[in-house]
Amino acid sequence: MNTVIRENDISHVVEADRAHIWHHLTQHKPFETGEPRVIVEGKGMRVWDQKGKEYLDAVSGGVWTVNVGYGRTEIADAVRDQLVKINYFAGSAGSIPGALFAERLIEKMPGLTRVYYCNSGSEANEKAFKMVRQIAHKRFGGKKHKVLYRERDYHGTTISCLSAGGQDERNAQYGPFTPGFVRVPHCLEYRAQWDLSGEEYGKRAADAIEEVILAEGPDTVGALCLEPVTAGGGVITPPPGYWERVQEICKKYDILLHIDEVVCGVGRTGTWFGYQHYGIKPDMVTMAKGVASGYAAIACLVTTEEVFDMFKDDASDPMNYFRDISTFGGCTAGPAAALENMRIIEDENLLENTVKMGARMLDNLNALAEKHAVIGQVRGKGLFCGAELVADRLTKEAADEKMVQAVVADCGAQGVIIGATNRSLPGLNNTLCFSPALISTADDIDNITNAVDKALTKVFG
Ligand SMILES: Cc1ncc(COP(=O)(O)O)c(C=O)c1O
Repeated sequence: MNTVIRENDISHVVEADRAHIWHHLTQHKPFETGEPRVIVEGKGMRVWDQKGKEYLDAVSGGVWTVNVGYGRTEIADAVRDQLVKINYFAGSAGSIPGALFAERLIEKMPGLTRVYYCNSGSEANEKAFKMVRQIAHKRFGGKKHKVLYRERDYHGTTISCLSAGGQDERNAQYGPFTPGFVRVPHCLEYRAQWDLSGEEYGKRAADAIEEVILAEGPDTVGALCLEPVTAGGGVITPPPGYWERVQEICKKYDILLHIDEVVCGVGRTGTWFGYQHYGIKPDMVTMAKGVASGYAAIACLVTTEEVFDMFKDDASDPMNYFRDISTFGGCTAGPAAALENMRIIEDENLLENTVKMGARMLDNLNALAEKHAVIGQVRGKGLFCGAELVADRLTKEAADEKMVQAVVADCGAQGVIIGATNRSLPGLNNTLCFSPALISTADDIDNITNAVDKALTKVFG
């Protein structure tokens, strides 16, 4: 426990929080009688709260972010050194860490060449949507501007990102939405929309995208935006055959493929990027959370040279470039932290570890499924796993949300922070989520799943 904060009186901090902080995703009524949680310190896989209680963090900072774990002094030192040299200059000029990180990143993303910096996943996705619209205006008289997005996917919190949001409960009460965003069906076979399985199911789910394109008119559709593995919509790994067909469809109708790697990017699934499991060739990739593991706010929109070229092909036209602004895209702390974050992942072989520990986590969860009938399906890729809880395995009726949350709470009481889909899909917020840091050991994984085992026994018997 940090002694400086102790001396400053942690109870004062808690009162200041209670009086003035508006926490994200939180109903504050309970804080009128109880205390908000304040996290005061972190090291490796563990964090400590204001009471000194230690937690094993199975969700990398709550939202799949701290990929290399807490307390990395190397990243803090790199950021400090950079800040005292030059902290900021607007993105119309370059920076040393900005150029060097872009070069390192592009090495990991064959086929892509250009990096646009900004400061959140939502912002990166907005930039991509703006590019699609500008390309439509420049080349297609404004017509080919629509962005297709998938049911259950999430792309961010702004109104236009929510307009591309496939989670109806997350979107509720925030309309009206931005026009030009069109939904395609999800690809989760467990909640099947077609009476098919395996590769046949995957192809059918992709064909459903083509049906939407044809209904809208291919000359109106500019891009398809998808998560490689759907995160907050229930940890949905794509069925076999899906991505190959999606790629074919995009090619056939000249539709840009925008992959949202905000969660999957930078190692989470055991490859640098989630799309790399599936042989996809994206035109645009967005990333944020794990890029610098939360040591600094940084997001990137990465494109092919073909996309980039469309914004410089007529230099005599004063409107013919990407006229977007990102003030904090010019912060140097982000790329300085990202460079060090990437070095750690390489030096410590964290991709390999993610594959190994991810397999262990899936095995452990599948073993729990043998024991607890409430687990309807276990899904995941690398250290990104989910367990969907059901009241009845045959009907697949979702488990009561309050009981799902009781499992999360019981793990917390045991000192293990896990997640669950939350105010995302009406009636289907029933998937437990696990995304521990890429540094997880076998003991960490076992401790997480042992806590879940106990919690499931306690809540569901
Ligand atoms: C897949 C995905 N895309 C985009 C975002 C938005 O990122 P941010 O919260 O940094 O704006 C999130 C956030 O959870 C996400 O899960």
